Amino acid sequence: MAQVKLIVSNWKMNLNYSQSLNLIQKLKSINYNSKRIKNIICPQFMLIPFVAEQIKDTKILLGAQDCHYEKKGSYTGDTSLDLIKKMKCKYVIVGHSERRLFQCETNQIIRKKVDFILSNKLSPIVCVGESLQDRKQLKYIKVVQNQLNECIPNGIKQIIVAYEPIWSIGTGVTPSIEEVTEMITFLKSYLHNTKNIKSCKILYGGSVSSNNFKELVNSSNANGALIGGASLKNREMKKILTFG
Ligand code: PGA
Repeated sequence: MAQVKLIVSNWKMNLNYSQSLNLIQKLKSINYNSKRIKNIICPQFMLIPFVAEQIKDTKILLGAQDCHYEKKGSYTGDTSLDLIKKMKCKYVIVGHSERRLFQCETNQIIRKKVDFILSNKLSPIVCVGESLQDRKQLKYIKVVQNQLNECIPNGIKQIIVAYEPIWSIGTGVTPSIEEVTEMITFLKSYLHNTKNIKSCKILYGGSVSSNNFKELVNSSNANGALIGGASLKNREMKKILTFG
């Protein structure tokens, strides 16, 4: 039986109301196989209620790009998981390299978020990935292993991890199929055998487009993709959602 693929659109801080309405209307008309594809959209917070309304009678699923690790409190500017849940988000991206860089998020903060999301029965999508320097110095496995150890608890039932080499995000540069396959194989085996997690889904992220999707995601045995730039373009998404 064909594996289910998770296609996660990370809209980042892009699209206004009319642009997102336009994109959603086009996405709604794409005839993809919802038994084989989970089409998950992660808009910025202010768009979530609007998008939730637009997709309510469709198979499109909703996710958030971040959340706080406390239920409520004096955290100016943050958003609570309670409200994210109310909007029927099922997924929350955590530890994206842009948050690690611009919001100084550490593995320890990310771990608190992962624990909180799991305890609320939502699915965290935990981003990991090495810098170009780590890759050149052949430290990429070690760096990613450390991220797994510090961000993800042992012995949980299931987890979704997005492997996103930092040097590939938004650059148009992608790893070779061998490099992606090596990392996906490592992640699956480490999470399963060492961290004792039964169900592990690994996504690839970093300059995914309709041109490289089949190779990067299908041939590497990834369980799907986390897509930034291309997720804003309906033609790209049509090709990706109806691949193969
Ligand atoms: P990109 O972004 O597809 O534009 O490289 C991916 C991501 O940051 O999740």
